[in-house]
Amino acid sequence: MAANPVVPGSARWSSRAAFVLAATGSAVGLGNLWRFPTEAGMNGGGAFVALYILCVLLIAAPLLLAETLIGRHGQRSTIGSAVHLARESGASPLWGSLAVVGLIANTLILTFYCVVAGWVMHFVISSGSDLIGALAGGNALAGAYADSSVAEIRQIMPALFSDPTMMVVWQAVFVALTVFIVARGVKGGIEVAAVWLMPTFFLLLLGITIYSSITGDFARAVNFLFAPDWSAAFQPGVINAALGQAFFSLSLGGGAMIAYGAYASRETKLGETSGIIAFADTGVAIIAGLAIFPIVFSVGLEPNAGPTLMFQTLPAAFHSMPGGAIVGFAFFVLALFAAITSSVSLLEISVAWVTERFKAPRTLAALVIGLFVFGVGLLSALSFNLLADQRPLPFIPGFENFGWFDAIDGITSKLMLPLSGLITAIFIGWFADKRLVNAETDLSGGVLKAWRFLIAFVCPLAVGAILVLGLFPQILA
Ligand code: TRP
Repeated sequence: MAANPVVPGSARWSSRAAFVLAATGSAVGLGNLWRFPTEAGMNGGGAFVALYILCVLLIAAPLLLAETLIGRHGQRSTIGSAVHLARESGASPLWGSLAVVGLIANTLILTFYCVVAGWVMHFVISSGSDLIGALAGGNALAGAYADSSVAEIRQIMPALFSDPTMMVVWQAVFVALTVFIVARGVKGGIEVAAVWLMPTFFLLLLGITIYSSITGDFARAVNFLFAPDWSAAFQPGVINAALGQAFFSLSLGGGAMIAYGAYASRETKLGETSGIIAFADTGVAIIAGLAIFPIVFSVGLEPNAGPTLMFQTLPAAFHSMPGGAIVGFAFFVLALFAAITSSVSLLEISVAWVTERFKAPRTLAALVIGLFVFGVGLLSALSFNLLADQRPLPFIPGFENFGWFDAIDGITSKLMLPLSGLITAIFIGWFADKRLVNAETDLSGGVLKAWRFLIAFVCPLAVGAILVLGLFPQILA
């Protein structure tokens, strides 16, 4: 075997805290702020939340540890690390396919992630200029978009959607920002972004949640999120949605966490650290729910608005709240910060592989992949206007009616991420060298046994079953 390039010193986190912040930054993103409330709102609230937490505990958190340990052990790109561990275990290098599926899925996710992040930027600017107007008028406690009617506010998003040029410009700006940070390297770019943006993010989120609990209908939000109506849990699609969300939110599926694990030092205790990351991400999702739903309820809006919840319902809600102009702007800035620390992790996966495989300079790799991501992302961006009639996946059950955006989102988070997670669980649970794997976890005794049981039995069975059910929902019917 050729001497494999191992991650250079400049591509290593400077401390465990930096690793935790970067990995939490990858996990915490639009998945928590936009996708989680959307999914919870559309899938019955409490029942979805309960299933989601179960999925995180039993499936996603154990897989998070599996991924970080593949990376830390390999100290290479995601594909390099997976193949390395397979070889060392005397298993077929074909197990590296988990990372190949992951790399493709994650790069595809980045294509539409940048589109949604572009919408966020649009709202940062529009709510920011609105705030400046309110402050200039000496009215710091104005509601958001005070000069517009609620009907006009709800038009901001459709107006953006019907303006392909504007959408593509924002998408391009966000791709460029992501490329810039990744090109600056692991320590000089990704870590710096995480260390500055994540603490600011936490402070803003805390502030908004306090505001929301005081001014909004907090009791109803708590009830909505935590009082499960169990009949809703057995509706078709809810368990798939919960598992898909767990994968998406924890950045799982053969990519980001292997990549970031590769930059962790030998001293980092992976078992404990993965627990912290999973806990932080789930906490942020729930707190985001507690920030968003009280406001939505207090102005009599419905929680099941779908993907427009964050971009139509919320701005309209901030309209009638005192100080809504400030809080609305803060909310979109926070969402932008969360999106950036996630998008860099999505890009890093393929950049690390291209620099390793083709010895390409990092900047060049980031630029070329960035261009590709922008190009493919155009399909998603334009699926809201120019390409609205196209249905790319008529041959996959359940995907027939999806336009480009939903098709790429669906195929990655409902199929490819679980598939690569399934391969990861089988590989780590059954085929990878047990001694090597156990040593990397830094777990021992009962906790180690429990983790091995979850990875070897629970993850493959649950993920496999949910994958099959997702493809063939008629089995249950
Ligand atoms: N977890 C991020 C979020 O919640 C998105 C994300 C980053 C992601 N890296 C990923 C999703 C890798 C799937 C796979 O917004």
